[in-house]
Parts: sequence; C-alpha cells; structure tokens
Amino acid sequence: MPSSESLRVWAPATVANLNVGFDALGCALCEPGEWMDFRRVSEPGVHLVNGPGTLLPLEVHQNVAGVAARSLMKALDVSWGVEITVHKSIKPGSGIGSSAASAVAAVVGIDALAESGMRKDELLPFALDGEAVASGARHADNVAPALMGGLTLVDPEGRVSALPIPHSWHMVVLHPQVEIKTSASRAVLPVHVTLDEAVKQASWLGKFVHELHVGRELEAMYCLEDLWVGPHRSPLLPCWDATRSAAMNAGARAGGISGSGPSSFWVCLSASDAQRVAAALSEVMNVAKLSHNLHVTTLSTQGAHVVSQSV
Ligand code: HSE
Repeated sequence: MPSSESLRVWAPATVANLNVGFDALGCALCEPGEWMDFRRVSEPGVHLVNGPGTLLPLEVHQNVAGVAARSLMKALDVSWGVEITVHKSIKPGSGIGSSAASAVAAVVGIDALAESGMRKDELLPFALDGEAVASGARHADNVAPALMGGLTLVDPEGRVSALPIPHSWHMVVLHPQVEIKTSASRAVLPVHVTLDEAVKQASWLGKFVHELHVGRELEAMYCLEDLWVGPHRSPLLPCWDATRSAAMNAGARAGGISGSGPSSFWVCLSASDAQRVAAALSEVMNVAKLSHNLHVTTLSTQGAHVVSQSV
C-alpha cells in the first residue's frame, strides 16, 4: 500500500492533577479537541503554517509542535520534510493541556507519515521535548493522557500507568478568559508540606486508584481531595468561591482547578446534572461580566490519533 502523503490528526484537551495527583494524574476529554494537518514535502525539515485564527510563532524552536516533530524526525532519520498546519482550538494558557495537545498531535502525525509504528510510550519522550518549550519542564501529566487517552498516572521516574477509565463521570470544564501563567501558579505553592498532610494526600490518591480498580467510580470521585495545591492556588482564580458553590449546589460531586488554572473541572453523575452545573457556572461568570468557555463532556478513551489520510 502506498504511504500517506498527507494526513490529519486529532488530539484531546486534558485535565491534569485532578486534585489528588499533582503533576502525576491526568485525563483526556472528548471535548474540546483540535486538529493538526501534515503534508510530506521534498524540502527537508519542519515547515509550520498557522491555520485560520491561529497565531503561533512559526520558528520551529519556539513552537511546541515544531520542536516535537523535529525531535522525532531526527530520531527516525527521515530524508523528507513536513508541512504542519496548526489549528489551535484549545486555547493556550487555559489549563486544559493546550501545549500537550500540540506536542502529541505532532508526534502522532510524524509517526504515521513515517510509518514507523512506534508505541505511544515510545512517542512520549519526543512529545515531552515539545511540551518543554511551553512549560519549561518535562511534565507528562497532560502529555500522557493526550497521547494515550483515558486516565493516566505518571510515576516519579516518568513511567506511565493507564488507570481504569470512569465511564460514568460527566465533566464540566469552565474556562474564564483570564491569564494565569503556570510559573505564577507554581510560585504560590509551598516548598514543604507537613508529614500529616503528606500522609493524608497519599492515602486519598491510593484509595482513588483502588476504587477505580474495583470499579467503584462514585467512591473514586469522592477521593478527589486537594490538600496542598488548590487551597494555595484558588485565590488566583476569578470568583473561585462563587464558582465552587454554584457547581456543588447545582449537582457536581467533586471538582477543582484544572492543571495550573484558570480552568476548573467539575465531576457529575449524569448528563443532566452536568448541564445544570454548566448553566450555574455560566450565571456566575455572567454576573461577574467575565468572558468564558464551557465544555460539557466525558473522558475520552482515545488519545491523539489519525482521523484522515490521503496518498
Ligand atoms: N501539573 C502542572 C501544575 C500543570 O499544576 O502546575 C500541568 O503540567
């Protein structure tokens, strides 16, 4: 079969931390997601193009997708070049894994064009090369679920475990249109935590993983306790107290800050509860006259993948 000359990749938004697994846990969402187009060209190297409405730097070394693609192409020692058109619909700085989506889309696209057949875990380090452009660090808590789908846990040595996916969870993601830099959001965190807090947080994470493995998705939801990150970060989020009260009163069972913010996530037991939570959150944002995006969604079993290709 002739190899593809062009293809399109979809990559999901992700929620990192999920309260109970700072820098370790993350999940992929069915929505929002975004697309990236790839076309093989004869001129070697990575050639970046912004899709309509996308305004990213086109110098490869400053672009998450560019760096991830170049890193993998170098490792594969390909002789051809690639034109990558980036269609950014997961807004940068939203706290739902915008840079991770770009990084993983890039490596999945190059892997498919090169027909290298690499496993997702083999692609991870190349995606992290791209992620590091945006965050300055090789955190995989967004990149792993964006690449592999579902719910993932990254251990301190960077190995990824796929956890059972709680299919009954309905998620509401609120993105107030304010900028909170990850560096600022990390700067407010304590350098040390007490032994008592460490023990309690470890217990919640352990119980969360256990409940997922025995199929108790509701009990797992109730383990999403955030003892040492959320309390320090929540003052950075606009209308946090009103947002939390509105979500919980409207039927959310758990929730917190998505990644380093400003987005928040709210976990519900049904689609109708999620719609009520979204309406309540919209009301809070409207009263405060804050522009915002809302996503009502579920966890995506699929990570980034090729959606169409042509020869
Ligand atoms: N876990 C990171 C943080 C964000 O909360 O700062 C995503 O890597």
